[in-house]
Amino acid sequence: MKKIVVFILFLIGVVAGVIFVQAMINQSAMVQPIKFNHQLHHKKMGIDCIFCHKYVETESRASIPNIDVCGICHLVLIGNSSEEKKVHEYVKNQKRIPWLSIYHVSDYASFSHRRHVAIGKLSCNLCHGDMGTLTSPPEKQFLKIKMENCINCHEKRHVSTDCNQCHR
Ligand code: HEC
Ligand code: HEC
Ligand code: HEC
Ligand code: HEC
Ligand code: HEC
Repeated sequence: MKKIVVFILFLIGVVAGVIFVQAMINQSAMVQPIKFNHQLHHKKMGIDCIFCHKYVETESRASIPNIDVCGICHLVLIGNSSEEKKVHEYVKNQKRIPWLSIYHVSDYASFSHRRHVAIGKLSCNLCHGDMGTLTSPPEKQFLKIKMENCINCHEKRHVSTDCNQCHR
């Protein structure tokens, strides 16, 4: 009997190990198709966050810009960087850039940019860090999307922490 218990515990350990390693691999596999430079476009050229992340004040999801936005400037080659060539190719061939999103809330919880940015007047930096200074895409979340991080801020700012506000 004891042997079986030990064996089952061993199996559980192996499965947990495999899941953990896979989670680590998924975490580190966030490589964007183009090495986009926020600093160049925002800090240097002065393009507003909302010019690219169009729905950040009006909808739940901010959205990641694609060839319709990039194409305004990259329909022709401006410089001679190989990364810019990639954007130009996507625009020229009318192919969507397959951006990944490192920030993602599961379906069982609800989050709205409109609520936090337009109504709550919170700065992007609180949750995303100083994006405008990054020269390459972020690889991990600045403020991790975890229930306790949502609730910590809600408690600090005296916002409701009722379960059904976030889980509807
Ligand atoms: C209170 C925290 C918070 C603030 C403030 C905030 N965000 Fe977010 N952001 C999130 C969370 C959480 C997600 C994941 C949303 C989801 O999966 O629905 C996210 C996702 C995103 C994404 C990924 C794609 C998408 O469509 O949502 C972008 C881009 C983004 N935010 C931009 C911004 C910008 C720009 C601002 C400021 C104008 C901003 N965010 C302010 C928490 C925040
Ligand atoms: C308002 C005009 C404008 C828009 C819109 C724009 N860019 Fe640019 N982008 C530029 C300019 C100007 C440069 C500088 C070119 C150079 O001198 O190399 C640049 C450079 C780049 C580079 C090369 C820079 C580097 O660091 O290697 C990439 C990659 C790039 N842009 C991607 C994008 C993507 C992706 C989008 C859409 C999400 C976009 N750009 C939208 C104007 C723009
Ligand atoms: C010229 C267009 C452009 C501007 C301006 C811009 N962004 Fe972005 N943003 C992008 C693109 C393209 C990506 C996807 C590639 C990457 O992660 O760098 C992105 C990604 C992001 C992400 C990560 C989303 C995710 O889930 O992976 C956040 C957060 C974000 N931007 C916030 C901001 C903030 C805050 C500003 C203003 C300070 C800003 N952006 C200005 C084009 C832009
Ligand atoms: C940096 C602080 C901060 C973080 C982090 C944050 N929130 Fe909020 N949240 C607020 C504030 C402030 C408001 C109130 C906005 C208003 O209506 O004035 C709010 C409001 C809300 C509301 C509406 C509540 C109501 O009373 O109607 C929901 C739902 C919500 N947040 C979900 C989330 C979720 C989910 C997360 C985590 C993914 C999150 N929030 C992270 C500050 C934050
Ligand atoms: C301010 C928003 C917010 C409130 C309030 C909130 N949750 Fe969550 N909850 C979340 C987010 C965000 C996640 C993680 C979503 C993800 O991983 O993508 C989560 C995850 C969960 C999970 C999945 C397991 C876990 O811990 O990740 C359970 C179960 C859960 N919440 C139950 C509750 C219960 C019960 C309450 C009330 C006592 C509550 N939540 C209140 C935002 C909230």
